[in-house]
Amino acid sequence: MARIISFVNQKGGVGKSTSVINVGAFLAAHGKRILAVDLDPQANTTSGLGVDPYQVEWHLYHILTAGVLAEEVIRKTGVFGLDLLPSNPNLAGAGIELVTQPNREFKLRESLAKISNNYDYILIDSPPSLGLLTINGLAASDFVVIPVQCEYYALEGLGHLLKTVDLVRENLGHNVNVLGAVLTMYDRRNRLNRDVLKEMQRNFPGRVFNAIIPRCVSLAEAPSYGKTILQYDVYSKGGKAYRQLAEEILALE
Ligand SMILES: Nc1ncnc2c1ncn2[C@@H]1O[C@H](COP(=O)(O)OP(=O)(O)OP(=O)(O)O)[C@@H](O)[C@H]1O
Ligand SMILES: [Mg+2]
Repeated sequence: MARIISFVNQKGGVGKSTSVINVGAFLAAHGKRILAVDLDPQANTTSGLGVDPYQVEWHLYHILTAGVLAEEVIRKTGVFGLDLLPSNPNLAGAGIELVTQPNREFKLRESLAKISNNYDYILIDSPPSLGLLTINGLAASDFVVIPVQCEYYALEGLGHLLKTVDLVRENLGHNVNVLGAVLTMYDRRNRLNRDVLKEMQRNFPGRVFNAIIPRCVSLAEAPSYGKTILQYDVYSKGGKAYRQLAEEILALE
């Protein structure tokens, strides 16, 4: 059975999609079978993995609202061992349509259960909200990784996020655990960035990954070519940091 990890932060632009794409690539390079699930209507993970969200016929919307099988929707990417469950802007409608459905929080979980044996890790990219799509991701996950951008308001909202994880555990009876936070877009010359790092380590002792993702132009450029950092600039600082993060996640086995 795959280990299922949601990358979650209701704050936008903190590096969720970049982390799913690149952790996925390095785990695949370690010989693991990986599925990236794009649960965000913005479809950044889909396009970042070289798939045009407007060209996909089947996507997560059909899985969540029409019961289409995940195996019909999954496609391969340019990275060997890294598969994708693509998104499309229409997925935004699922968040609304699901509201009246029974078992609405468990649609993704039910779907992934049927294919989970085919993978070692399933990485879920969440939208920047704590709505029904993210809840579906959490209810399907064993673990949560929280990407945190090193900026002034970084810690704001984290309490709310941790409470949401608790609510999923208590109200949905599903055991999901926070693996840790990963700091992204870090610039060690910037004092505020260094302060946020210290603050995180103080607030979440033992729960901050050693891998710190630096601000890195290659990481920002790679998705415009539909490539992971492994394919685009593996020896960049960003590439090395995501390799380290993937290895830390592997070491938790
Ligand atoms: N370490 C980094 N260095 C430089 N740019 C980065 C880095 N990480 C992410 N970016 C860029 O910052 C932007 C936001 O990153 P990303 O899309 O991964 O965040 P997100 O949390 O998924 O955003 P959203 O909440 O909108 O889904 C993107 O343009 C991405 O290419
Ligand atoms: Mg994203």
